[in-house]
Amino acid sequence: MTVSTADPGTTTGSALLGDSGSLHRVVEDLAGGVRTIQPVRDALADRELASALSSWNSAPGDPDLFVASLFPEPAQVSHVPFLPKERLLSPREKSAAAEAFARVLESCEFTSGSAVTAFEDAVADLSGMNCAVATGSGTDALVLALRAVGVEPGDEVILPANSFAATENAVFACGAVPVLADVTTPDGNLDPVSVAEHVTPRTVAVLPVHLYGKLADMAGLRAVADRYALRIVEDACQAIGVTGVGRYSDAAALSFNPYKNVGLCGKAGAVVTDSAEIAERCRVAGYHGFEPGRKNVKCEAFGLNARIDNTMAAIGLALLPWTGLRGLRRTYLARRYVEALRPLAEEGVLETPAFAPDHSWHLFPVLVDGGAPARDALRDELALRSRVETDVYYPVLTHRQQTPVRERFFGQARLPRTEWLHDRVLHLPLHAGLSLGEQDRVVEALHAATRPGR
Ligand SMILES: Cc1ncc(COP(=O)(O)O)c(C=O)c1O
Repeated sequence: MTVSTADPGTTTGSALLGDSGSLHRVVEDLAGGVRTIQPVRDALADRELASALSSWNSAPGDPDLFVASLFPEPAQVSHVPFLPKERLLSPREKSAAAEAFARVLESCEFTSGSAVTAFEDAVADLSGMNCAVATGSGTDALVLALRAVGVEPGDEVILPANSFAATENAVFACGAVPVLADVTTPDGNLDPVSVAEHVTPRTVAVLPVHLYGKLADMAGLRAVADRYALRIVEDACQAIGVTGVGRYSDAAALSFNPYKNVGLCGKAGAVVTDSAEIAERCRVAGYHGFEPGRKNVKCEAFGLNARIDNTMAAIGLALLPWTGLRGLRRTYLARRYVEALRPLAEEGVLETPAFAPDHSWHLFPVLVDGGAPARDALRDELALRSRVETDVYYPVLTHRQQTPVRERFFGQARLPRTEWLHDRVLHLPLHAGLSLGEQDRVVEALHAATRPGR
């Protein structure tokens, strides 16, 4: 038996076992059938993962069986849904959330209460950042962070066009102007060169999105931001736990909505930052401009009602211990997809993402050769012949949404690489509860649909 020599304390920015860099190493160790790294400290987010890995380390065996044992999996696979809502939480997580809610019910501390600070401390810890301000949603976190770094009405903010609407809506909510820059292929993340081309005297900030959980080129974006004295707010709503989030920016926004890698029982988010000043501005603007610690006494002209409820924070505290374990499941499944689809990638039928350590595997995109007609035909074939549900997660790019402001804000947008990717991308099922059997069925369906007769 080989023992991995990886030292998580020296090779990642944070000492968490469950950050994406560490998880990728753990998954490689599991796949190799060897003992893996030990937890380096007792972090809430690592708790379930640490206990699972101690049982693996005492008797490594078949990694598929081990990973399958970590989450309840459906016995029969008659079809594969893209994201079955009733399986967003495991039975153990549901019990933990119910117990937490029962305690809140008892106290009736629904909106503010002690769970908020405790949740914020745990989120700061898992992000490896000094401060976290928990919010009512990831969208609220984006708005607060943009305002806190100084984005004001009329300012320009540079962002990509292939994200969830919240990204551009947060800019609109500040009264600012969204300016779309192109992305790099194949990851679909903001291209620093294109960002530099879109800077004007009115540009104040860059808003990169870690698309599908893959970290954008933050060092490249930081260099552009430094050249033009811009602020950076990361849309890390899909990238919880990704090594490097927060390292090159002023602040990052996280989402804990139920469909995210760590999903609660309703909407929630957080701003994470190393700046106590930015965190304070988010706190004040997030609750009516009130002075912290003083009831109904304002210190700012304006504020929102955008703080997390104590109820959701209490549920968040109860669910955070599964963060690392959920990340492990996703990362293991992503590696398994990459390996199983390698023959199709080598034939040029489709392109899979690189199994990169700066990835949370929120979604698993493949790029289908032949563009939109081939992609859509493949999607239909998978659904009809194999009952495998896939998705094109964001069906309309920002500059193609038919809204009253389209021409005014996005009429000049030229985004050839964004559009090229958009025509080819297909999302395969990937969630913490996806069973290995379901994944096998997706892979078989893809082989059958793309290599008929073999
Ligand atoms: C990239 C991205 N940005 C922002 C958001 C907004 O997060 P929330 O739904 O928590 O408001 C989401 C999630 O839906 C997202 O995926």
